[in-house]
Amino acid sequence: MADVPSLSLITVVLLCSVTFMVGALLASALQRRRLQRSVRLPLEIVESTTASISQGAVSTRIVLPDNVDPAVAQTATAINRLADRAAHDIEEMRRLERVRSEFIANVSHELRTPIFSVQGYLETLLDGAKDDPAVAIPFLEKAYHNAMRLNVLLNDLIDISRIESGELKFSFRYFDIVDLITELVHNSEIRARQANVTVTYSHDDARSVYGDKERLSQVLTNLLDNAIKYNVDGGRVNVVTQGAESGVRIEIADTGIGIPEQHLSRIFERFYRVDKDRSRAVGGTGLGLAIVKHILEAHDAHIDVSSSAGHGTQIGFTLRSGEAV
Ligand SMILES: Nc1ncnc2c1ncn2[C@@H]1O[C@H](COP(=O)(O)OP(=O)(O)O)[C@@H](O)[C@H]1O
Ligand SMILES: [Mg+2]
Repeated sequence: MADVPSLSLITVVLLCSVTFMVGALLASALQRRRLQRSVRLPLEIVESTTASISQGAVSTRIVLPDNVDPAVAQTATAINRLADRAAHDIEEMRRLERVRSEFIANVSHELRTPIFSVQGYLETLLDGAKDDPAVAIPFLEKAYHNAMRLNVLLNDLIDISRIESGELKFSFRYFDIVDLITELVHNSEIRARQANVTVTYSHDDARSVYGDKERLSQVLTNLLDNAIKYNVDGGRVNVVTQGAESGVRIEIADTGIGIPEQHLSRIFERFYRVDKDRSRAVGGTGLGLAIVKHILEAHDAHIDVSSSAGHGTQIGFTLRSGEAV
Protein backbone atom coordinates (compact mmCIF):
# COMPACT_ATOMS: atom_id res chain seq x y z
CA MET A 1 0.00 0.00 0.00
CA ALA A 2 2.87 2.22 0.87
CA ASP A 3 3.89 2.10 -2.80
CA VAL A 4 0.64 3.38 -4.08
CA PRO A 5 0.88 6.93 -2.84
CA SER A 6 4.49 7.22 -3.93
CA LEU A 7 3.57 5.79 -7.29
CA SER A 8 0.79 8.26 -7.67
CA LEU A 9 3.15 10.95 -6.47
CA ILE A 10 5.55 9.97 -9.21
CA THR A 11 2.68 9.95 -11.65
CA VAL A 12 1.62 13.37 -10.48
CA VAL A 13 5.16 14.67 -10.69
CA LEU A 14 5.55 13.08 -14.10
CA LEU A 15 2.24 14.40 -15.29
CA CYS A 16 3.12 17.80 -13.96
CA SER A 17 6.44 17.87 -15.69
CA VAL A 18 4.95 16.57 -18.91
CA THR A 19 2.29 19.26 -18.73
CA PHE A 20 4.99 21.80 -17.99
CA MET A 21 7.10 20.60 -20.88
CA VAL A 22 4.16 20.54 -23.25
CA GLY A 23 3.29 24.01 -22.00
CA ALA A 24 6.82 25.22 -22.46
CA LEU A 25 6.96 23.69 -25.91
CA LEU A 26 3.65 25.24 -26.80
CA ALA A 27 4.78 28.57 -25.43
CA SER A 28 7.98 28.47 -27.39
CA ALA A 29 6.11 27.43 -30.51
CA LEU A 30 3.76 30.35 -29.98
CA GLN A 31 6.73 32.60 -29.32
CA ARG A 32 8.32 31.39 -32.53
CA ARG A 33 5.16 32.09 -34.45
CA ARG A 34 4.95 35.54 -32.94
CA LEU A 35 8.58 36.19 -33.80
CA GLN A 36 7.95 34.81 -37.25
CA ARG A 37 5.06 37.25 -37.74
CA SER A 38 6.54 40.32 -36.05
CA VAL A 39 10.21 40.02 -37.02
CA ARG A 40 11.18 37.43 -39.58
CA LEU A 41 8.49 37.95 -42.20
CA PRO A 42 8.72 41.77 -42.00
CA LEU A 43 12.51 41.56 -42.19
CA GLU A 44 12.15 39.50 -45.36
CA ILE A 45 9.89 42.18 -46.81
CA VAL A 46 12.41 44.85 -45.78
CA GLU A 47 15.21 42.90 -47.37
CA SER A 48 13.50 42.14 -50.67
CA THR A 49 12.08 45.66 -51.06
CA THR A 50 15.45 47.24 -50.27
CA ALA A 51 17.01 45.00 -52.86
CA SER A 52 14.56 46.08 -55.54
CA ILE A 53 14.96 49.78 -54.60
CA SER A 54 18.73 49.46 -54.91
CA GLN A 55 18.28 47.75 -58.28
CA GLY A 56 16.55 50.84 -59.58
CA ALA A 57 12.89 50.66 -58.54
CA VAL A 58 13.32 54.06 -56.87
CA SER A 59 9.62 54.67 -56.35
CA THR A 60 9.06 51.37 -54.49
CA ARG A 61 8.61 51.66 -50.71
CA ILE A 62 8.56 49.11 -47.88
CA VAL A 63 5.00 48.41 -46.74
CA LEU A 64 4.73 46.31 -43.56
CA PRO A 65 1.68 44.65 -41.99
CA ASP A 66 0.39 45.92 -38.63
CA ASN A 67 1.89 44.84 -35.33
CA VAL A 68 5.42 44.25 -36.47
CA ASP A 69 8.29 44.63 -34.06
CA PRO A 70 8.92 48.37 -33.45
CA ALA A 71 12.61 48.03 -34.27
CA VAL A 72 11.78 46.51 -37.64
CA ALA A 73 9.15 49.19 -38.29
CA GLN A 74 11.71 51.90 -37.49
CA THR A 75 14.26 50.35 -39.81
CA ALA A 76 11.68 50.25 -42.60
CA THR A 77 10.76 53.91 -42.03
CA ALA A 78 14.42 54.92 -42.13
CA ILE A 79 14.99 53.01 -45.38
CA ASN A 80 11.85 54.55 -46.91
CA ARG A 81 13.08 58.03 -46.00
CA LEU A 82 16.45 57.28 -47.53
CA ALA A 83 14.70 56.10 -50.68
CA ASP A 84 12.64 59.34 -50.75
CA ARG A 85 15.80 61.40 -50.53
CA ALA A 86 17.56 59.34 -53.20
CA ALA A 87 14.52 59.61 -55.50
CA HIS A 88 14.47 63.39 -54.99
CA ASP A 89 18.20 63.68 -55.70
CA ILE A 90 17.88 61.56 -58.84
CA GLU A 91 14.94 63.70 -59.99
CA GLU A 92 16.95 66.89 -59.40
CA MET A 93 19.95 65.46 -61.26
CA ARG A 94 17.75 64.54 -64.20
CA ARG A 95 16.24 68.03 -64.20
CA LEU A 96 19.66 69.70 -64.19
CA GLU A 97 20.78 67.42 -66.97
CA ARG A 98 17.69 68.39 -68.99
CA VAL A 99 18.31 72.11 -68.37
CA ARG A 100 21.95 71.68 -69.36
CA SER A 101 21.26 69.90 -72.62
CA GLU A 102 18.50 72.39 -73.48
CA PHE A 103 20.97 75.20 -72.85
CA ILE A 104 23.59 73.58 -75.07
CA ALA A 105 21.01 73.06 -77.83
CA ASN A 106 19.99 76.72 -77.56
CA VAL A 107 23.59 77.93 -77.58
CA SER A 108 24.43 75.85 -80.65
CA HIS A 109 21.38 77.14 -82.43
CA GLU A 110 22.11 80.77 -81.52
CA LEU A 111 25.74 80.49 -82.62
CA ARG A 112 24.91 78.70 -85.84
CA THR A 113 22.70 81.50 -87.19
CA PRO A 114 25.33 84.29 -87.32
CA ILE A 115 28.12 81.88 -88.30
CA PHE A 116 26.10 80.63 -91.29
CA SER A 117 25.31 84.22 -92.28
CA VAL A 118 28.95 85.27 -92.20
CA GLN A 119 29.87 82.17 -94.18
CA GLY A 120 27.10 82.81 -96.73
CA TYR A 121 28.00 86.47 -97.31
CA LEU A 122 31.71 85.71 -97.63
CA GLU A 123 31.05 82.84 -100.06
CA THR A 124 28.88 85.06 -102.24
CA LEU A 125 31.55 87.75 -102.19
CA LEU A 126 34.26 85.27 -103.18
CA ASP A 127 32.03 83.85 -105.92
CA GLY A 128 32.19 87.23 -107.66
CA ALA A 129 30.04 89.69 -105.72
CA LYS A 130 33.23 91.35 -104.47
CA ASP A 131 33.66 92.97 -107.87
CA ASP A 132 30.29 94.69 -107.72
CA PRO A 133 30.51 97.50 -105.13
CA ALA A 134 26.72 97.82 -105.00
CA VAL A 135 26.57 94.28 -103.58
CA ALA A 136 30.00 94.02 -101.98
CA ILE A 137 29.56 96.86 -99.48
CA PRO A 138 26.18 95.80 -98.04
CA PHE A 139 27.34 92.16 -97.90
CA LEU A 140 30.51 93.11 -96.06
CA GLU A 141 28.43 95.20 -93.69
CA LYS A 142 26.12 92.26 -93.06
CA ALA A 143 29.03 89.90 -92.46
CA TYR A 144 30.53 92.45 -90.07
CA HIS A 145 27.21 92.91 -88.29
CA ASN A 146 26.92 89.14 -87.76
CA ALA A 147 30.49 88.88 -86.52
CA MET A 148 29.62 91.60 -83.97
CA ARG A 149 26.53 89.65 -83.00
CA LEU A 150 28.68 86.60 -82.35
CA ASN A 151 30.91 88.69 -80.16
CA VAL A 152 27.99 90.01 -78.09
CA LEU A 153 26.56 86.51 -77.79
CA LEU A 154 29.86 85.03 -76.65
CA ASN A 155 30.32 87.77 -74.06
CA ASP A 156 26.84 87.15 -72.67
CA LEU A 157 27.46 83.39 -72.65
CA ILE A 158 30.73 83.78 -70.81
CA ASP A 159 29.06 86.10 -68.29
CA ILE A 160 26.16 83.80 -67.62
CA SER A 161 28.29 80.70 -67.27
CA ARG A 162 30.70 82.49 -64.93
CA ILE A 163 27.84 83.73 -62.78
CA GLU A 164 26.04 80.39 -62.74
CA SER A 165 29.15 78.38 -61.94
CA GLY A 166 29.91 80.75 -59.07
CA GLU A 167 33.24 81.57 -60.68
CA LEU A 168 32.43 85.25 -60.85
CA LYS A 169 33.23 86.96 -57.59
CA PHE A 170 31.34 90.06 -56.62
CA SER A 171 33.13 92.91 -54.99
CA PHE A 172 30.82 94.91 -52.77
CA ARG A 173 31.43 98.45 -51.67
CA TYR A 174 29.60 101.73 -51.19
CA PHE A 175 29.26 103.93 -54.23
CA ASP A 176 27.21 106.82 -55.57
CA ILE A 177 24.32 105.45 -57.62
CA VAL A 178 23.28 108.90 -58.89
CA ASP A 179 26.72 109.43 -60.44
CA LEU A 180 26.65 105.98 -62.02
CA ILE A 181 23.18 106.36 -63.54
CA THR A 182 23.95 109.87 -64.77
CA GLU A 183 26.97 108.44 -66.58
CA LEU A 184 25.05 105.46 -68.01
CA VAL A 185 22.17 107.63 -69.21
CA HIS A 186 24.76 109.83 -70.89
CA ASN A 187 26.35 106.74 -72.50
CA SER A 188 22.98 105.65 -73.86
CA GLU A 189 22.35 108.93 -75.64
CA ILE A 190 23.61 107.83 -79.07
CA ARG A 191 21.52 104.66 -79.00
CA ALA A 192 18.52 106.64 -77.77
CA ARG A 193 18.88 109.25 -80.48
CA GLN A 194 19.11 106.55 -83.15
CA ALA A 195 15.86 105.07 -81.89
CA ASN A 196 14.32 108.53 -81.47
CA VAL A 197 13.71 107.87 -77.79
CA THR A 198 14.19 110.43 -75.00
CA VAL A 199 15.83 109.27 -71.79
CA THR A 200 15.41 111.28 -68.59
CA TYR A 201 16.72 110.72 -65.08
CA SER A 202 15.42 112.17 -61.85
CA HIS A 203 16.60 111.44 -58.31
CA ASP A 204 16.40 112.67 -54.76
CA ASP A 205 19.35 113.04 -52.37
CA ALA A 206 19.64 109.29 -51.63
CA ARG A 207 22.93 108.40 -53.30
CA SER A 208 24.92 105.83 -51.44
CA VAL A 209 24.27 102.18 -52.21
CA TYR A 210 26.12 99.01 -51.31
CA GLY A 211 26.91 96.69 -54.21
CA ASP A 212 29.23 95.65 -57.01
CA LYS A 213 29.42 98.81 -59.12
CA GLU A 214 30.71 97.03 -62.25
CA ARG A 215 27.97 94.41 -62.16
CA LEU A 216 25.23 96.88 -61.30
CA SER A 217 26.35 99.03 -64.17
CA GLN A 218 25.85 95.96 -66.38
CA VAL A 219 22.34 95.52 -64.93
CA LEU A 220 21.41 99.15 -65.53
CA THR A 221 22.88 99.16 -69.05
CA ASN A 222 20.85 96.05 -69.91
CA LEU A 223 17.62 97.52 -68.54
CA LEU A 224 18.23 100.89 -70.16
CA ASP A 225 19.02 99.18 -73.48
CA ASN A 226 15.84 97.13 -73.35
CA ALA A 227 13.80 100.22 -72.55
CA ILE A 228 15.28 101.94 -75.62
CA LYS A 229 15.21 98.90 -77.92
CA TYR A 230 11.66 97.85 -77.20
CA ASN A 231 10.32 101.35 -77.48
CA VAL A 232 8.39 103.21 -80.13
CA ASP A 233 9.37 106.09 -82.37
CA GLY A 234 9.23 109.24 -80.25
CA GLY A 235 8.98 107.22 -77.04
CA ARG A 236 10.37 107.99 -73.58
CA VAL A 237 12.39 106.26 -70.91
CA ASN A 238 12.23 107.64 -67.36
CA VAL A 239 14.74 106.53 -64.79
CA VAL A 240 14.04 107.41 -61.18
CA THR A 241 16.04 106.76 -58.00
CA GLN A 242 14.54 107.43 -54.62
CA GLY A 243 15.47 106.82 -51.02
CA ALA A 244 13.25 104.10 -49.59
CA GLU A 245 12.92 102.49 -46.18
CA SER A 246 15.10 99.54 -47.11
CA GLY A 247 17.59 101.31 -49.38
CA VAL A 248 17.50 103.13 -52.69
CA ARG A 249 14.76 102.20 -55.12
CA ILE A 250 15.59 102.30 -58.81
CA GLU A 251 12.90 102.37 -61.44
CA ILE A 252 13.12 102.30 -65.21
CA ALA A 253 9.89 103.02 -67.00
CA ASP A 254 9.38 103.16 -70.74
CA THR A 255 6.57 104.05 -73.09
CA GLY A 256 7.46 101.15 -75.41
CA ILE A 257 5.77 98.13 -76.89
CA GLY A 258 5.22 96.48 -73.50
CA ILE A 259 5.23 92.79 -72.65
CA PRO A 260 2.03 90.76 -73.02
CA GLU A 261 0.88 89.28 -69.69
CA GLN A 262 1.48 85.64 -70.70
CA HIS A 263 5.20 86.32 -71.32
CA LEU A 264 5.85 88.36 -68.20
CA SER A 265 6.86 85.47 -65.95
CA ARG A 266 9.28 84.05 -68.51
CA ILE A 267 11.37 86.99 -69.71
CA PHE A 268 14.10 86.24 -67.14
CA GLU A 269 14.71 82.79 -68.60
CA ARG A 270 17.82 82.32 -70.71
CA PHE A 271 17.14 82.91 -74.42
CA TYR A 272 13.51 83.80 -73.79
CA ARG A 273 12.30 86.52 -76.10
CA VAL A 274 8.77 87.72 -76.71
CA ASP A 275 9.51 88.43 -80.36
CA LYS A 276 12.66 86.66 -81.57
CA ASP A 277 12.86 88.57 -84.83
CA ARG A 278 12.56 91.96 -83.15
CA SER A 279 15.13 90.97 -80.53
CA ARG A 280 17.58 89.79 -83.22
CA ALA A 281 16.99 92.90 -85.30
CA VAL A 282 18.01 95.10 -82.36
CA GLY A 283 20.99 92.93 -81.47
CA GLY A 284 19.46 91.01 -78.57
CA THR A 285 20.66 87.64 -77.34
CA GLY A 286 17.84 86.82 -74.95
CA LEU A 287 20.40 86.53 -72.16
CA GLY A 288 20.30 90.10 -70.84
CA LEU A 289 17.54 89.70 -68.28
CA ALA A 290 18.85 86.30 -67.14
CA ILE A 291 22.15 88.00 -66.33
CA VAL A 292 20.32 90.92 -64.69
CA LYS A 293 18.38 88.56 -62.45
CA HIS A 294 21.49 86.65 -61.37
CA ILE A 295 23.37 89.82 -60.50
CA LEU A 296 20.46 91.29 -58.56
CA GLU A 297 19.99 88.02 -56.67
CA ALA A 298 23.58 88.33 -55.53
CA HIS A 299 22.57 91.74 -54.14
CA ASP A 300 19.50 90.30 -52.38
CA ALA A 301 17.48 92.60 -54.60
CA HIS A 302 14.15 91.39 -55.90
CA ILE A 303 13.26 92.71 -59.34
CA ASP A 304 9.66 93.59 -60.09
CA VAL A 305 8.14 94.10 -63.52
CA SER A 306 4.81 95.44 -64.56
CA SER A 307 3.88 95.95 -68.15
CA SER A 308 0.98 96.56 -70.41
CA ALA A 309 1.23 95.53 -74.04
CA GLY A 310 1.26 98.58 -76.28
CA HIS A 311 1.76 101.03 -73.40
CA GLY A 312 5.08 100.36 -71.76
CA THR A 313 7.03 98.58 -69.07
CA GLN A 314 8.19 99.46 -65.55
CA ILE A 315 11.04 97.57 -63.96
CA GLY A 316 12.23 98.28 -60.42
CA PHE A 317 14.45 97.01 -57.65
CA THR A 318 15.89 98.25 -54.37
CA LEU A 319 19.57 98.33 -53.46
CA ARG A 320 20.81 98.38 -49.91
CA SER A 321 21.99 101.82 -48.94
CA GLY A 322 24.86 102.77 -46.75
CA GLU A 323 26.37 105.58 -44.76
CA ALA A 324 29.66 106.32 -46.43
CA VAL A 325 30.25 106.81 -50.14
N1 LIG B 1 11.44 97.25 -71.66
C1 LIG B 1 10.93 96.24 -72.38
N2 LIG B 1 9.83 96.42 -73.14
C2 LIG B 1 9.32 95.40 -73.86
N3 LIG B 1 9.83 94.16 -73.90
C3 LIG B 1 10.91 93.91 -73.17
C4 LIG B 1 11.53 94.92 -72.36
N4 LIG B 1 12.58 94.38 -71.73
C5 LIG B 1 12.63 93.08 -72.12
N5 LIG B 1 11.62 92.79 -72.98
C6 LIG B 1 11.33 91.47 -73.58
O1 LIG B 1 12.03 90.48 -72.83
C7 LIG B 1 12.89 89.73 -73.69
C8 LIG B 1 14.12 89.31 -72.94
O2 LIG B 1 14.95 90.42 -72.64
P1 LIG B 1 16.52 90.24 -72.63
O3 LIG B 1 16.82 89.07 -71.75
O4 LIG B 1 17.14 91.53 -72.29
O5 LIG B 1 16.84 89.78 -74.10
P2 LIG B 1 17.17 90.63 -75.42
O6 LIG B 1 18.55 90.25 -75.77
O7 LIG B 1 16.17 90.14 -76.43
O8 LIG B 1 17.04 92.08 -75.10
C9 LIG B 1 13.14 90.63 -74.88
O9 LIG B 1 13.44 89.89 -76.03
C10 LIG B 1 11.81 91.36 -75.01
O10 LIG B 1 10.91 90.53 -75.72
MG1 LIG C 1 18.27 92.89 -73.43
